[in-house]
Amino acid sequence: MADQSSRNPSGGGEQWASRIGVILAVAGSAVGLGNFLRFPGQAAQHGGGAFMIPYFISLLVLGIPLCWAEWTMGRYGGLRGFNSAPGIYSVLWPHRFAKYLGALALLVPLVIYMYYVVIEAWCLGYALNYVTGDLMLGSDAAAYQAYFDEYIGKGANGALLSGPHAGSLTILAITFLANFVLIYRGVSKGIERFCNIAMPLMALLALIVLARVLTLGTPDPSKPAQSVVGGLGFMWNPHYEELKDPQTWLAASGQIFFTLSVGFGIIINYASYLKRKDDVVLSGLTASSVNEFFEVCLGGLITLTAAYIFLGESARGQGTFDLGFKALPNVFAQMPGGQVIGVLWFLVLFIAAITSSISMLQPVIAFLEEGFGLKRHASAAILGLISAMGCGFVVYFSEGMAALDTFDFWVGSVLIISLALVQSLLYGWALGIERGAEEAHLGAHMRIPHFVQLMLKYVVPVYLAAIFGMFCWNNVPSADATIATVPGLHSSELAEGPAPEPLVASLASQGREIPGVAAVARSDESGTWALVGPEGGLLRLADSPAGLEVIEHKAGYFENTVNSPVALNSIAFIGVIAAFLLLLVHIAGNRWEKEGRLQYRK
Ligand code: ALA
Repeated sequence: MADQSSRNPSGGGEQWASRIGVILAVAGSAVGLGNFLRFPGQAAQHGGGAFMIPYFISLLVLGIPLCWAEWTMGRYGGLRGFNSAPGIYSVLWPHRFAKYLGALALLVPLVIYMYYVVIEAWCLGYALNYVTGDLMLGSDAAAYQAYFDEYIGKGANGALLSGPHAGSLTILAITFLANFVLIYRGVSKGIERFCNIAMPLMALLALIVLARVLTLGTPDPSKPAQSVVGGLGFMWNPHYEELKDPQTWLAASGQIFFTLSVGFGIIINYASYLKRKDDVVLSGLTASSVNEFFEVCLGGLITLTAAYIFLGESARGQGTFDLGFKALPNVFAQMPGGQVIGVLWFLVLFIAAITSSISMLQPVIAFLEEGFGLKRHASAAILGLISAMGCGFVVYFSEGMAALDTFDFWVGSVLIISLALVQSLLYGWALGIERGAEEAHLGAHMRIPHFVQLMLKYVVPVYLAAIFGMFCWNNVPSADATIATVPGLHSSELAEGPAPEPLVASLASQGREIPGVAAVARSDESGTWALVGPEGGLLRLADSPAGLEVIEHKAGYFENTVNSPVALNSIAFIGVIAAFLLLLVHIAGNRWEKEGRLQYRK
């Protein structure tokens, strides 16, 4: 294929205005809720400082090499007239099938946008509720849980459509619109200009919050361990035993993809607006480093340190939303100046989120424009309609956050690993590492060591395939695990009523405190026994030669999905969007072939 330096004729010929602009735009895409909420939660759950070992290995082996590959492939495609993944993949791999793989790079950012923008709106809503003082609810953790559940309509599907939630729906509509206003203004006048202001502002606000957290000292002298130093230790003291658990390694790689926006189809699109002589190597590394600064130095230091100082050990094991929307508001209510810090913190989250969410829209806008010759208003209107449907779906099916969780599992976890795999194969095997190295070094301000190219060809795809396999193995099937064995006890000795003392003691020795109301009961007519907690069956009890086994059932993703109509509907929804995108890609591909813009290898 001829090497055209001309810009994409139907893509508006957009380009970045400056080098710092593109770096901040890519960093803006990367720095998001993943940095401030997801990372601290993952680190705390998976061994504290020990988590940083698989985290940095994933960053060096997967994250940065794949970033370089995406930057290189994006500029390569852009110089050959394409800004969207279906076109770029087709010039990288001149085969009829390549463009359909590009549909995956449209599906991922589009579906992630559908729920990410909802969380983004929660951040804005929480910031405003700090301004009004509504979120200063005292120190009772249950109040924040109840507030959050009510705010997001967790209790029932359709709850958000009722009158009292008109305010939060309006905030969502404003957030949604703000994204489209920015994207409508284009790559340089919209995304770049916004990120040039938003990124330094976010850093400044986050530094103010950090300064407040690090000067908290020991607010409650009766709990001397709950100090700044204690908080830092809580976050960073390594629990090396966690490294034996494959889940820790999976979590670390998943975090690297999510936080760098690798495997999102975004960097490849952003890099397509670069000029031939623009550096991609140092820029890619700088954008990744900026992201790591926000993640490790700001997100990591603020979130858990603050949570530990006020909540102590109970901050451990909190999930992403628990930390950000329940624990921290509780902390802010207890700290001097907390109301102002609350406003600043949720503004930081909102800015972080919006610089990421706009980047999720641009790949599809670019595709609609170059695939169908649409003008910006038409492409933005179509994308607005499709993403509003998805967003409405997430908002309506709010019970237990089922739709949001399903989108996040399938697209925010499974499909980003799949897309990263596709892109590593395109770079290593379709473009080839010799050409890849040559392309990457055009205009480069530093060199990529050769072993990184070899890693991209051989190690990264194998590592990714292994992660993918392990991820499915760990998450999809259900599993029964024996968590304790009580020697000398047999089911024939059990009777309905309070749990026998040896059973309770054995579980306690495993760190499982059984609630006082727990009772032994027959779980079904076949006569098996269970330890029943206040909310139904907890643990199954069964005889084994070593004594009475206490068996925990961990429902896998498959079981959870088939038992949840909302999860099934969500998967069907993703399927419909995927089919629609494939159809669009097919039609666009035919147009490009007719126009002579795509030529396949015979
Ligand atoms: N990379 C973005 C984040 O961390 C999506 O939130």
